[in-house]
Amino acid sequence: MGAMWIVLLCLSVVTTLTVVQGEDPYLFFEWNVTYGTIAPLGVPQQVILINGQFPGPNINSTTNNNIVINIFNNLDEPFLVTWSGIQQRKNSWQDGLPGTNCPIAPGANFTYHFQVKDQIGSYIYYPTLGMQRGAGAFGGLRVNSRLLIPVPYADPADDYTVIIHDWWTKSHTTLKNILESGRSIGRPAGVLINGKVAKGDGKDEPLFTMEPGKTYKYRICNTGLKTSLNFRIQGHSMLLVEMEGSHTVQNSYESLDVHVSQCYAVLVTANKEPKDYYMVASTRFQRKEITATGIIRYTNGKGPASPELPPAPVGWAWSLNQFRSYRWNLTASAARPNPQGSYHYGAINITRTIKLANTAAKVKGKLRYAINGVSHVDATTPLKLAEYYGVADEVFKYNVIEDEPPTSIKEVTLQTIVLNMTFRTFIEIIFENHETAVQSWHLDGYSFFAVAIEAGTWSPEKRKNYNLLDAVSRHTIQVFPKSWAAILLTFDNAGMWNIRSEIWERRYLGQQLYASVISPARSLRDEYNIPDYAQLCGIVVNLPKPSPYTI
Ligand SMILES: *[C@@H]1O[C@H](CO)[C@@H](O)[C@H](O)[C@H]1NC(C)=O
Ligand SMILES: *[C@@H]1O[C@H](CO)[C@@H](O)[C@H](O)[C@H]1NC(C)=O
Ligand SMILES: *[C@@H]1O[C@H](CO)[C@@H](O)[C@H](O)[C@H]1NC(C)=O
Ligand SMILES: *[C@@H]1O[C@H](CO)[C@@H](O)[C@H](O)[C@H]1NC(C)=O
Ligand SMILES: *[C@@H]1O[C@H](CO)[C@@H](O)[C@H](O)[C@H]1NC(C)=O
Ligand SMILES: *[C@@H]1O[C@H](CO)[C@@H](O)[C@H](O)[C@H]1NC(C)=O
Repeated sequence: MGAMWIVLLCLSVVTTLTVVQGEDPYLFFEWNVTYGTIAPLGVPQQVILINGQFPGPNINSTTNNNIVINIFNNLDEPFLVTWSGIQQRKNSWQDGLPGTNCPIAPGANFTYHFQVKDQIGSYIYYPTLGMQRGAGAFGGLRVNSRLLIPVPYADPADDYTVIIHDWWTKSHTTLKNILESGRSIGRPAGVLINGKVAKGDGKDEPLFTMEPGKTYKYRICNTGLKTSLNFRIQGHSMLLVEMEGSHTVQNSYESLDVHVSQCYAVLVTANKEPKDYYMVASTRFQRKEITATGIIRYTNGKGPASPELPPAPVGWAWSLNQFRSYRWNLTASAARPNPQGSYHYGAINITRTIKLANTAAKVKGKLRYAINGVSHVDATTPLKLAEYYGVADEVFKYNVIEDEPPTSIKEVTLQTIVLNMTFRTFIEIIFENHETAVQSWHLDGYSFFAVAIEAGTWSPEKRKNYNLLDAVSRHTIQVFPKSWAAILLTFDNAGMWNIRSEIWERRYLGQQLYASVISPARSLRDEYNIPDYAQLCGIVVNLPKPSPYTI
């Protein structure tokens, strides 16, 4: 029985790959996910390691590579990981959310297969179950341009990934228990840069080195749980070249606000006095600023970094202005997943406007977060599987929220939120934030045009303030206190896609939903079949397999 199963599995893996994914090169990885103990803030604590590493290993890939990652879950709890910003065209089977995949059971292994199709840029991966993200198992994922495609800047001397995030000295289980008990996880104990924080005692090893005169690329990503961070490098300005998959107009910045789950790629030239310099990541929008530093060393360096750190900007208006300075480089060539939606997006008629308003609420005395009056709960059967097997109505109801937030919320309810999106329609989503905390929203399966963020309340006439020419195409957007943000996109990628708060306690407590995008044609041109090796769970386990999509 076991041997038979393995043979069948191997055969089906081979068939799926050859049929579906053509001849693009393959990258194979094996990941061993385990607990470990580290003490980045001096307090030994349990973390989650990938192949013994914290943060996890960087994935270095090139446009159209097929990535095969066999993940061995050696934790005593289920595990899933998502590839944030990787669009998984036709392939929400690989998205790694509780709404798309059954968890990898303790002691089991599961292999993700996906293609970084028509994408370039700087991305991250992270775990999606419980509060595991607060314990590690996150890291960088970069997609290089193919050699044939020109990049709008000279090849850097090296390419560095800088993972910055807030950090608690509590285990992810403790963080989860705090949320389950109805409270917030509160403020972080510290901030880490690539898993560390410099002590400043003259003995710190450099995180990165630079040869004088050369230019380096730094990809700065915030994998944290809730805190926006400001990033800067002593004495050096940063030339912004890419964010979340789009080449940007190349402006120079003294510092960058990196909201949760965002990634920015910058060029830094080693043209200053040869010595050590601190890179600095510090918390934003909190009464008590927490700062972490890490060392960059010139290879011919003589002397330590100055203890005087450049200050962080103050207030969120600064951050809003910085957002407005970001522009997409319209003339740069680059792989784009949906070219038909890329150009002249400002000329496409909007077919539907969806307003999503976040609110904090108490349900049975416990803290929850809601969208348009409903706080999301995961179903025990992944929503995508329920839909594919034709049993969605036994698992969830479509459209339990309206496209418009209710004028007053009498009582927040707990339900699974799935909005139907009509395939290939052009939709406007407004994120309304009536609260006083900065939000960070993300959409899986797509990149969208981030056309506006403004203070106050959205109304249709605000559309005249949208950037309809060169807004950056990206997958994460922040919303400042008592403000709104608008995004535009074509829902042309069939699948089940998570729209979530990247503020992880908010997401855990219900500030998320799914967008169901169904191709009426049930055609392989629009969506892949469920892979034969997919794990099944919940009510679909013993159901007959539906007839597959055809050409
Ligand atoms: C994973 O790591 C654990 C703990 O170090 C070890 O016991 C196990 O053999 C490793 N498994 C694989 C597949 O490498
Ligand atoms: C990453 O991939 C690029 C292109 O394939 C290669 O040139 C580079 O050496 C790789 N870098 C690392 C650190 O593996
Ligand atoms: C588990 O790992 C084995 C050994 O590498 C591999 O043959 C098998 O395909 C993996 N199983 C899954 C479900 O990925
Ligand atoms: C945009 O990209 C083009 C083409 O690669 C490049 O020549 C140009 O300098 C870039 N423009 C800006 C403003 O960064
Ligand atoms: C968009 O809508 C306007 C006004 O309803 C209409 O005149 C125009 O033809 C539409 N454009 C497209 C591309 O459908
Ligand atoms: C949503 O999509 C499902 C699946 O196609 C369909 O059965 C249902 O009628 C749709 N519901 C609405 C309200 O559009």
